[in-house]
Amino acid sequence: MKARISGLGHALGEQETHNHYFVDLGLETSDEWITERTGIKSRYIASEETSTSDLATKAAQHCIQNASIDKSNIDLIIVATSTPDYLSFPSTACLVQEKLKLGPIGAFDLSAACSGFSFALSTARSFIESNMYKNILVIGADCLSKITNFEDRGTCILFADGAGAALVTQTVEGETGGIIDSSLHSDGSKAELLMIPKGGSKYPLNTSITDEKSHYITMDGKGVFKSAISIVIPAIKSMLNKHNLNINDLSYLVCHQANKRILDKIANSIGLDKDKLVVNVTKYGNTSAATIPIALSELNEEKKLQKGDLILLAGFGAGFTWGLNLIEWS
Ligand code: ACO
Repeated sequence: MKARISGLGHALGEQETHNHYFVDLGLETSDEWITERTGIKSRYIASEETSTSDLATKAAQHCIQNASIDKSNIDLIIVATSTPDYLSFPSTACLVQEKLKLGPIGAFDLSAACSGFSFALSTARSFIESNMYKNILVIGADCLSKITNFEDRGTCILFADGAGAALVTQTVEGETGGIIDSSLHSDGSKAELLMIPKGGSKYPLNTSITDEKSHYITMDGKGVFKSAISIVIPAIKSMLNKHNLNINDLSYLVCHQANKRILDKIANSIGLDKDKLVVNVTKYGNTSAATIPIALSELNEEKKLQKGDLILLAGFGAGFTWGLNLIEWS
């Protein structure tokens, strides 16, 4: 038996925010600079009251509706997030379970930063192929605005809030398609490229940490850019080679939406047609674990996914982590 995606949904932070917002904040930046270096024109920021579990629940409700499943048939919830509602428990997945009013099924969070959805999808696939579960709700959700320093022009222009959910279901006898293959990778030697330096168990939160704002995201932008390119391109080629596929066999490449320049560079290096490269970072910014399922959900809503389409998902992010899933749409 295989695992297939049988429903998709997504949700965004409430406030559409354009590049001039950062100029209005008093930062030395401009719409031109942000557009040219990142491709981002707008993003959605959650209100003060909205947390990751709220967006995750909205995306899940949309997904359950899209899958036309009775929610009592859901066996497990996995939430990939770097911005849980609480540090460090209860998990956001437990909060989503309660908000969806599901029974006492398993629910847990998974931490793999912007690769979170890729890792969670692979995890769900394994549970389903091992016949342990039949329907798993996989959610990538983040409110990065809550851990972003809005005085740091090098990071705050990139990050945003959103959630995407996929129902992963066991195929039935005779059904074709599904998740064909997954590969997960990490390189902890690059941990410092993108991190929240303080506020965790190594440097527990105190007022000097909040004063120096080291409980917010710090990033070596150029280092992240180079690492993302140097790991993702070979990983894509290797996945295609393993399955004797040509780049033209792909219907879509859905990469983590970090920066349009990274996406263009990946597509150019592997010779992918521009119309097969899925890009929505321009309107939603970087929503971390949510970018891939939001992009898939949008493709689904726009009726762009056809049975038999080959779709490659490629997540990459802090850790450093990267993970791929090759899917035949069913
Ligand atoms: N507006 C204007 N100037 C800026 C801004 C800004 N928002 N941000 C940085 N600058 C300045 C810098 O201070 C620097 O000024 P200086 O030369 O006086 O020191 C200058 O622009 C160049 O800075 P760089 O960091 O070298 O700019 P770069 O061209 O690398 O662009 C960026 C920065 C956009 C962050 C780029 O490195 C990038 O996109 N990196 C990838 C990071 C990424 O995508 N992260 C997403 C999270 S990671 C993930 O999801 C996997």
